Amino acid sequence: YDIQLATSADKEDILIFLREFFFKDEPLNNYLGLISEDRPRCIDLEEYCTKELDNGLNLKAVHNGKIIGLSLNGILERGYLDKEDDYKVTDPKFSKIIRLLDRVGKESDIFARFPEFDKTVTVKILSVNGAYRGQGIAKELVNKTRELGKQYGAGFMAVDCTSHFTALALRKLGFELHYSLKYADHKENGQVVFKPEKPHEAVTVYVQKF
Ligand code: ACO
Repeated sequence: YDIQLATSADKEDILIFLREFFFKDEPLNNYLGLISEDRPRCIDLEEYCTKELDNGLNLKAVHNGKIIGLSLNGILERGYLDKEDDYKVTDPKFSKIIRLLDRVGKESDIFARFPEFDKTVTVKILSVNGAYRGQGIAKELVNKTRELGKQYGAGFMAVDCTSHFTALALRKLGFELHYSLKYADHKENGQVVFKPEKPHEAVTVYVQKF
């Protein structure tokens, strides 16, 4: 397989890929049943995934002309949590994930750890075709993202990992665990919101200074 830049020209292929894999099998999407036969699409998540495809930082793994993996990457700037998002999430299930990620963003406070830097590159979506997992494709996608992040001039990289396997990949690449929140400790109205399958016990934030 090859790793190549992905752009908005790939948007439809990216969405087809994500509908087949990430929207079903990312641990939180999977737990919530984000998409189902009755509701085959989650427009809010599709927008979230594709709103910055032309930032020059997105990567696809391609085999025989087909996408087999994606790392959809974004830039975060100091103060990003205080800025209003330019789109509103209305899907009730996806909103739960956004509220978790907001909490993780506030509590992990990555820019406080790196006071010398004002921007970072993050992996928003990491997804590999089920038939190609466990072969190091995710690690390669993150490794290449790191190269792009260095060229871009970000001082460090930070990734929210909802999957234990993403955390393992980052650890292998030398990232450090910065923050962890057990799913059992994330409650709304006194109720645990996510009970994903083992081994996905916590959402973690891994960081690396360049
Ligand atoms: N069981 C045990 N270990 C596993 C498994 C598995 N099923 N899959 C991967 N691993 C381990 C690997 O051994 C490796 O660790 P190591 O280097 O210590 O050996 C590490 O996880 C990464 O392995 P890769 O082969 O690079 O990962 P892969 O290409 O299989 O992709 C991914 C990992 C993207 C998480 C894939 O499982 C996937 O698409 N899952 C569903 C979607 C998802 O959960 N995405 C991540 C959400 S977090 C985010 O998007 C930022």
